[in-house]
Amino acid sequence: VRPFPTPSARQGEAPSLGLTRRMRRNRKAEWSRRLVRETRLTTDDLIWPIFLMDSSEARSPVDWMPGVDRLNIDEAVRQSVHAASLGIPAIAPFPFVEKSLRDPTGSEALNARNLMCRAVRAIKAEVPQIGIVCDAALDPYTSHGHDGVMEGERVLNDASVAILVQQALALADAGADVIAPSDMMDGRVGAIRAALDASGHEDVQIMAYAAKYASAFYGPFRDAIGTNATLIGDKRTYQMDPGNSDEAIAEVALDLDEGADMVMIKPGLPYLDIVARVKDHFRVPTFAYQVSGEYAMIVAAARNGWLDGDRAMMESLTAFKRAGADGVLTYFAPQVAEKLKAAG
Ligand code: PBG
Repeated sequence: VRPFPTPSARQGEAPSLGLTRRMRRNRKAEWSRRLVRETRLTTDDLIWPIFLMDSSEARSPVDWMPGVDRLNIDEAVRQSVHAASLGIPAIAPFPFVEKSLRDPTGSEALNARNLMCRAVRAIKAEVPQIGIVCDAALDPYTSHGHDGVMEGERVLNDASVAILVQQALALADAGADVIAPSDMMDGRVGAIRAALDASGHEDVQIMAYAAKYASAFYGPFRDAIGTNATLIGDKRTYQMDPGNSDEAIAEVALDLDEGADMVMIKPGLPYLDIVARVKDHFRVPTFAYQVSGEYAMIVAAARNGWLDGDRAMMESLTAFKRAGADGVLTYFAPQVAEKLKAAG
């Protein structure tokens, strides 16, 4: 280390700092920035969540997620073809279930001809090469909007797991490639794994929403699937407290022991410390969900002209990868894939 130089006495002449390392040298030109870049977002990193509806209309806009539409089955098939052609590895469909089909136990979730199962069959028939990740949770189907069944004010654990297992089997029978339990009941990964194995679905993967927090950032999603009006109370007795980090390690350890093939952290950007910790600790395929509220914040600010939406989208997704995520569920998936394709 050189001694700090004495400043030049001459007015207006910058003193030499005598630096050995100048970090800016590697940043001076685009070719050099490309050369030293550590993390790169690719189309292979994307899972695209889509919303399904039973309708003769192809699309209907989600008000709280500008740019995102609910799709009927035909349109979902067309969009899956499009996603596959862009090289997006997987989609994650979520259903908007008619209010008349919702009940306290979410029984429509077990109907082998429900919207999800019909959509999965139709997509698999037309685009077998795209992965389909199906959420296991009852909230789209329950009249109270919770992910499990209730007794009074309580969301029951074991009784909910028994139903979630049946839901997972219906989805696997329909052709789901991955079951993604997002309900945060204890023991559901093990129960679902055992049931899948016992019914000839040994190859169906499980992506556990292992560390899912009770978050305000799910707001627009609940508009998309129509549970914002129905949800009674909140989900804090089963989703994690935002203040906890050690607990995420415990959750991931349990889900892996119970047979999860991949784990997920959710929400995304506000929880990148959890993504980094989980990846460092377990070294297993680790995913993150850039949730509806994160999407809405970027799009709303961009629409107001307050930031460059495209750059914020790419920067936020690169940050997931830098933190250690192997992939990201993002509503921006097709836009990102188009952009990456245009860039060559
Ligand atoms: C349902 C589920 C939710 C999300 C994914 N699966 C909502 C919730 O737990 O209330 C949120 C996704 C998003 O906000 O984009 N279990």
